Amino acid sequence: TQAPVNVTVTGAAGQIGYALLFRIASGQLLGQDVPVKLRLLEIPQAVKAAEGTAMELDDGAFPLLAGIDIFDDPKQAFEGTNIALLVGARPRSKGMERGDLLEANGGIFKPQGEAINAGAASDIKVLVVGNPANTNALIAQSHAPDVPADRFTAMTRLDHNRALAQLSKKLGVSVTEIKKLAIWGNHSATQYPSVQHAEVAGQSVDVDQAWLESDFIPTVAKRGAAIIEARGLSSAASAASAAIDHVYTWVNGTADGDWTSAAVVSDGSYGVPEGIISSFPVTAAGGEYKIVQGLEIDEFSRARIDASVAELVEERDTVQKLGLI
Ligand code: NAI
Repeated sequence: TQAPVNVTVTGAAGQIGYALLFRIASGQLLGQDVPVKLRLLEIPQAVKAAEGTAMELDDGAFPLLAGIDIFDDPKQAFEGTNIALLVGARPRSKGMERGDLLEANGGIFKPQGEAINAGAASDIKVLVVGNPANTNALIAQSHAPDVPADRFTAMTRLDHNRALAQLSKKLGVSVTEIKKLAIWGNHSATQYPSVQHAEVAGQSVDVDQAWLESDFIPTVAKRGAAIIEARGLSSAASAASAAIDHVYTWVNGTADGDWTSAAVVSDGSYGVPEGIISSFPVTAAGGEYKIVQGLEIDEFSRARIDASVAELVEERDTVQKLGLI
């Protein structure tokens, strides 16, 4: 039998952690024949709550769950880890400026990047979920110089899944019939969900521009706020589900003739400055995400991509000025 894969989850006692850990323990992160060992990282005040979640995980009697350890020290939590899900982050409090938010998150993602650099397994894969996810991933990556940069990713799969759901309702087809949707840019309100290359049954998707601009794009981009408005709490189970999808696809690959979306380190493709962590259409094979190359970008898409990328560049410049990267 296979040796267990070490999976570190930060923010384990939070909302997303509560939904995510049970999906991992049941084998949905990597596959039904892969045992996992969970390493949970929390801040000291939340360790007790994480212990409670661990008790419930025990009570699930999951055949693939080979052990659970709980830490409040990143150095220990990332020791020997193969997959790191960085969910815990500092939320924006009332009146907080963006610079303050980035600085507070620098205090979390810099030490975590250093700990990954120092102790993670050589095949480490990192997914950042905690917001601002793209720039948090950039901070962690920049403090892990010995880890290949492409092992650091941020999550836009929830946006991708939201876009699939909206388009499937509009077209009256199943989500499985829609191929080649893409989220570009930042996981923020500036993101660009693109149907420019989308296909159903090999045919390009025919939707009118007015619907795209006044319905589809804002609905996808503002879905997080709509969930808070309806539920009184931010999206958690759907975010956990997207994190599972992101890692599962990364490890097991995309289907032929399709792609997915993930925020990965830019290689300069599509005019996105090299080094920033931006969402692209990506394929996965052999445990690597690769940016889909050579797509034609129409004028409308170009302007939307540029606007979201400009925001990412601003965030990068801010964390650079703050000495966080
Ligand atoms: P939450 O507030 O319920 O849980 C966050 C947990 O992180 C808390 O238990 C907290 O103690 C822990 N934490 C804080 N600092 C930590 C540190 N330095 N090390 C380890 N743990 C730490 O929040 P929730 O709902 O679980 O969301 C987590 C993050 O995910 C938020 O930043 C949220 O904005 C983000 N998010 C991202 C999405 C995406 O699509 N990329 C979608 C939904 C949420």
